[in-house]
Amino acid sequence: MTRGRFITFEGVDGSGKSSQVKRLAETLRARGTTVIETREPGGTLGAEQIRDLLVAGASERWSPETEILLFTAARRDHVEKVIQPALEAGHTVISDRFADSTRVYQGVGRAELRQTVDEFHQMAIAMEPDLTLILDMDPEKALRRGLARDSGEDRFENFGLEFHRRLRTGFMALSREFPNRCTVIPADDGEEEVARRVLEAVDGA
Ligand code: TYD
Repeated sequence: MTRGRFITFEGVDGSGKSSQVKRLAETLRARGTTVIETREPGGTLGAEQIRDLLVAGASERWSPETEILLFTAARRDHVEKVIQPALEAGHTVISDRFADSTRVYQGVGRAELRQTVDEFHQMAIAMEPDLTLILDMDPEKALRRGLARDSGEDRFENFGLEFHRRLRTGFMALSREFPNRCTVIPADDGEEEVARRVLEAVDGA
């Protein structure tokens, strides 16, 4: 059995990842591929429970260090129960966020903690996606879009514009650090056009 392909989407809040995950999954399914769509934090019952602790409430509710532990715990459950079994069964897994979000949000955005993020990743996760699509857009526009959704999951949006600017820079640096698996997709344009760019990257990789 050939191992399946692991594709992740990354980007700042409101960059349109979730619609692109859906579109890509539909396109690949229409081609006859079995696709598991999932997201972080979340993707399993336990990880969704941890998600509730992370995305709602006051911004200062958790320190960046505690966040690393919570995101990593949620990810470990997700990898054990969903991602690894699906890849071993030969399925394609598409995840809305994965470890790169921790590298950027906790490793650069909230604090300079990249080394701590890497240590926990090595200890508990130790796997990387085959392909990472970084949706890049103006953080101001993305933030407006994210907050407009009024999802009740605004804890990270509430860290503000400067924080989101740091995230964008962080994601760009990450794409240079992992050039073999990361593709930056300009995401300011319409959904159709972004979907076309995504598919081009998926087919070309
Ligand atoms: P997500 O559901 O992708 O939110 P959005 O659709 O608004 O992008 O992720 C929830 C929040 O959690 C988001 O603000 C990013 C943050 N996050 C981290 O800070 N670290 C992580 O490791 C992950 C996976 C998410």
